[in-house]
Amino acid sequence: MSFKDKIVKEKVPQHVAIIMDGNGRWAKKHGKQRYEGHYQGVESVRKITEAAAEIGVKYLTLYAFSTENWRRPKEEVDALMHLFVQTIEKELPTLNKNNIRLRAIGDIESLPEENIKRLKETIAKTEKNNKMDLILALSYSGRWEIVDAVRKIMKDREKGLIKPEDIDEKVFARYLNTAGIPDPELLIRTSGELRISNYLLWQIAYTELYVTKKLWPDFGKEDFYKAIVDFQNRERRFGMTGEQIKGS
Ligand code: FPP
Repeated sequence: MSFKDKIVKEKVPQHVAIIMDGNGRWAKKHGKQRYEGHYQGVESVRKITEAAAEIGVKYLTLYAFSTENWRRPKEEVDALMHLFVQTIEKELPTLNKNNIRLRAIGDIESLPEENIKRLKETIAKTEKNNKMDLILALSYSGRWEIVDAVRKIMKDREKGLIKPEDIDEKVFARYLNTAGIPDPELLIRTSGELRISNYLLWQIAYTELYVTKKLWPDFGKEDFYKAIVDFQNRERRFGMTGEQIKGS
């Protein structure tokens, strides 16, 4: 029996976030260059996007490039930038056919100019799609996003649009890149590392974590469904007792 058959439709998480890790190790294991691991990783992106849309996930957020990834060798950064733009342009017809809207979070303006232009153009061409949002975290980090939100709040304060006493968690969240997007219920990390790596720090306060040893290029649809089933078998308490949850 496939894990897909065990998924309870009514309990599919609305938002799944993924740390796609292990492309480099996959390449090494297969005697290939690191960039070949990233190319293979694109195949997993394709499969998992399809799998998520098939079961009714509404938001899929993929950690494609962190602010810290800029420290990698220039050739790898250049190869990744090229890969992102090339992939999304190539996948545009499939995204539209499957009614998937592409979005990006992160310090997009720090990307090379040509990439920003092509990224924005492709995003605009999927704007009307509404089955699932595929959100790419590009030049993203959770701390950067929080600092960015504080800057925006201070600018609004200068304009007299907000007062300190107006700020609560809901208002603050509106200044994040993920404004309007529900927090992820499930965060999947591949390659076995037990770290958050500066990903969605604000949003994952109550997110369930799922770590698999599979390297990202080896992570397929069945692995994704297995993570969903594992999530569905958990009890999410949000600080309450198990009895309170059962009673509600
Ligand atoms: C982490 O593996 C992976 C990345 C930093 C890049 C992820 C990019 C892709 C999967 C391509 C995705 C393309 C699109 C369009 C979203 P790593 O290099 O850190 O692996 P390692 O830890 O084994 O060295």
